[in-house]
Amino acid sequence: MSKKLTLALVSILMVFIYGCNNSKKQNLILNSPSQNNTIEFYLSVDGSPGYLIYHNNELVIDSSRLGFEFKNAGPMVNHFKIIGSKTNLLNETWEMPWGEQRYVVNNYNELVINLQENDFGRKINLYFRAYDDGVAFRYEFPEQDSLKELIITNEKTQFKLTGDHMCWWAPGDWDIYEHLYHTSKFSEIDAFKGIDNNLAQTYIPMNAVNTPLTMRMLNGLHLSFHEANLTDYAGMTLKVDTANLVMESELVGSDRLGYKVKRELPFFTPWRAIQISETAGGLIESRLIENLNEPNKLGDVSWFKPMKYVGIWWEMHLDKSSWDMASGRHGATTKNAMKYIDFAAENNIGGVLVEGWNTGWEHWIGFEDREGVFDFVTPYPDYDLKKLVEYANSKGVRVIMHHETSAAPRTYEKQLDTAYKLMNSLGISSVKTGYVGKIIPKGEYHHGQWMVNHYRKVLETAASYNIAVNAHEPIKATGLRRTFPNAISREGLRGQEFNAWSPDGGNPPEHISIVAFTRMLAGPIDFTPGVFNIKLKPYKPNNQVNTTLAHQLALYVVIYSPIQMACDLIENYKGQPAFQFIRDVGIDWEQTKVLNGEVGDFVTIARQERETGNWFVGSITDENGRVITIDFSFLGPDTKYNAVIYKDGKDADWDKNPTSIEIEKMVIGNKTVKSFELAPGGGLAISLIKSE
Ligand code: NOJ
Ligand code: CA
Repeated sequence: MSKKLTLALVSILMVFIYGCNNSKKQNLILNSPSQNNTIEFYLSVDGSPGYLIYHNNELVIDSSRLGFEFKNAGPMVNHFKIIGSKTNLLNETWEMPWGEQRYVVNNYNELVINLQENDFGRKINLYFRAYDDGVAFRYEFPEQDSLKELIITNEKTQFKLTGDHMCWWAPGDWDIYEHLYHTSKFSEIDAFKGIDNNLAQTYIPMNAVNTPLTMRMLNGLHLSFHEANLTDYAGMTLKVDTANLVMESELVGSDRLGYKVKRELPFFTPWRAIQISETAGGLIESRLIENLNEPNKLGDVSWFKPMKYVGIWWEMHLDKSSWDMASGRHGATTKNAMKYIDFAAENNIGGVLVEGWNTGWEHWIGFEDREGVFDFVTPYPDYDLKKLVEYANSKGVRVIMHHETSAAPRTYEKQLDTAYKLMNSLGISSVKTGYVGKIIPKGEYHHGQWMVNHYRKVLETAASYNIAVNAHEPIKATGLRRTFPNAISREGLRGQEFNAWSPDGGNPPEHISIVAFTRMLAGPIDFTPGVFNIKLKPYKPNNQVNTTLAHQLALYVVIYSPIQMACDLIENYKGQPAFQFIRDVGIDWEQTKVLNGEVGDFVTIARQERETGNWFVGSITDENGRVITIDFSFLGPDTKYNAVIYKDGKDADWDKNPTSIEIEKMVIGNKTVKSFELAPGGGLAISLIKSE
């Protein structure tokens, strides 16, 4: 049997079983609604399950095995028979309470296969979904008499590639996602090379990568591997077998517990998802990961409003001030916070984050005994929380709470109700959390099942208090924002902060040109753009931001998050004409269009603001300057837009002249086509405001 399918034989969602060949006993085929993506499930002659994926008849994933190993039971990898199968389909449109777009089409064909072991009689069900923008599958362990609980030591889900694809990968660290992305062929992936961040908690046990992992095939097809709906399970890394071009799921473990996952039956695993797109930009426009999650469980979340924010934050990363009051340079003082509130009120900025407001910072990094250090309710004596909230309210600004747990999640769990009650009593509706350091109890990793459950407990408890969560040092996003729209944003990448203090010189100019096609496919990013004082003088003579100023502006459109910080010191914004873009730029979108882009090189995104219908465009490039042509035909007909264009100056360069910027005004309509020159490490930001 040739590996190419004769799709002509296969009508929409026609599932059929056919006879033996050398290696496969039975096959079941599932097509996506427009038939561009096809999943072939098979049982080999020894009863081991596997699958292949095709895009427009071309093999994308070669024969790949499925299965599990357990601590308390024999492996489930072969000797299966098919005892049933059925198909489902769905074509629905759902509304995002906030997001990259208002409406999301969720259209798939599904194949459910019921398997049973010939010898032990144990059962497992497989769910395959074929979408036009990718495929996904998950396992279900149904209720059964002889099996009550499973302790998983290994999930053995394979992805066999069809060639030595170009990959954009970050190491499969069990404890932190804050690594640079690397660009290499699959056969050259070396996760240990990825230990770049000097963070004590880094733990990379093998040559594995984290997800989303993005690849480009020789024929130009783009693939991105990730997981969706990570619930009561361990995070998945992908172990790479560079010689055989195979990846296998490697779940994050627990040294303390000695297994990967423990579950009572029945249960589902998370979805294993592969986005498939002929263009790089199609990956960004796809909502596959959200579609694989359950609908909104919280109902109306209008108590959370997408917002831009400023805060007492960058000054600590620059060492201008400190979180710790005992340092004598305390940032979170009542007086300082009032300055930020005034600035926010004057500049169309909705929120103010204040870090270092509560006692405990004298004992956070570098101490083993961190349990109980933070209580999340006791302010330092020079910070009048109540007065500040009242002051902010009087100016229409929202205070954003900060809870650094110092990776002591048990302390945080004990404090959740007390902390959230305080927030409720003050009318504070969002919190930034943090998990810096090695997890206490020892032997747990940030991305294992135990912590996955902690992050979920925080999210669900916060929801019950009408509180939205922006987690730093988080578990990866897996689309749960659909189910819990109080999961507003998170870090989970090398953020802007690395530019302030990383000994390796910070994030390279190409950083977000990779992130947009990798980490951003998982969900919103709290990257905290907006540094205007690019050279960080006088605070950090050996560090700088490795982009131009126009690139920093473009990030408000390129990066998606319902909260976007203007992170620089407020004095650096005063008298800056370019700051007008940050005042104007939207934060909640009706629709998003990726106008062009190549992974790791450049990307241009246009987003239309909800309510106003105004558009904003952001374009960034890597270390290479380039000309970007924008066809404005995405604008509605019969409307003229007053455009303000913020572009790199002629002599701009991320290193030699990063703040050179030109601001130009013109009228733009949907017939306009215009080229722009982006400097090395440069960018372009355009606001398009409807003219009356
Ligand atoms: C790390 C976070 O990423 C950063 O934003 C925060 O300022 C520090 N932790 C302190 O909580
Ligand atoms: Ca961080």
